[in-house]
Amino acid sequence: MYRILKKKQIIPNIHLLVIESETVPRNTLPGEFVVVRVDETGERIPLNVVDWNEKSVSVVFMEVGTSTRKLAALKAGDELATLAGPLGRPTVIPENKSILAIAGCYGIGAIYPVIRAFQARHNRVTTIIEGRTAMLLYWQNKLRKYSERLIEITRDGTRGVKGHINDFLPEYLEKNPTDLIYCQGCTYLTYLVSQLTRPFTVKTIVGLNPIMIDATGMCGVCRVIVNNETKFACVDGPEFDGHQVNWENLLSRRHTYLEHERKSLSFLECEKYG
Ligand code: FES
Repeated sequence: MYRILKKKQIIPNIHLLVIESETVPRNTLPGEFVVVRVDETGERIPLNVVDWNEKSVSVVFMEVGTSTRKLAALKAGDELATLAGPLGRPTVIPENKSILAIAGCYGIGAIYPVIRAFQARHNRVTTIIEGRTAMLLYWQNKLRKYSERLIEITRDGTRGVKGHINDFLPEYLEKNPTDLIYCQGCTYLTYLVSQLTRPFTVKTIVGLNPIMIDATGMCGVCRVIVNNETKFACVDGPEFDGHQVNWENLLSRRHTYLEHERKSLSFLECEKYG
């Protein structure tokens, strides 16, 4: 069993969990993930590692369905049934490059250890965080520490630049020579950023979040098509070149279990509220 040391709702629907472990953080590198189960019969949930020290590993997740709702209901002192990791391939960290990191939603947490590693290798990092409204942005001070510039974009203009990433990114890339784009967030954001950067031929690495089960390369559920080859996101990724991802295939596979997820959540709500 793995004890929760801290649980906090950072913004509506996005939670931070600090989990006690000495073995997982010992080998963790930026870009890797863990898989947790709330209880012995629970779904295996892959989560980006956002920080770690000798005694704990931290994850940020969005509450979307039954399993993440159960996870969000945990408090400090509660225990997880399982914690497996670190998993996946770590982010490739270049040196002395000009990097633009882009994130939204749970991806804002996910980019934190990566931009820290970028900065440690003398890269010049500009970070963009985006959301519908100011209330959905977080960790600005933590991100500023490892960024030469932090740009906030909100669709309603309640903070930073008003608009959407697609209003801002092409103009930014025209004016600012960039060697690498690194993006974390929902599939729509990673897809959109990959489409926007394609005409600029700037390398674009995206963190993908396909459905996973075993996360060890055995079940094939997380398969994605990259450069016309089948890859398993859990062992070959989860980060890939966004210009080589078959987005149509990824988006359709992500919707496979939506109806089951909806039913599962209604059952959970019936159990809880009658
Ligand atoms: Fe099963 Fe990746 S989750 S092969």
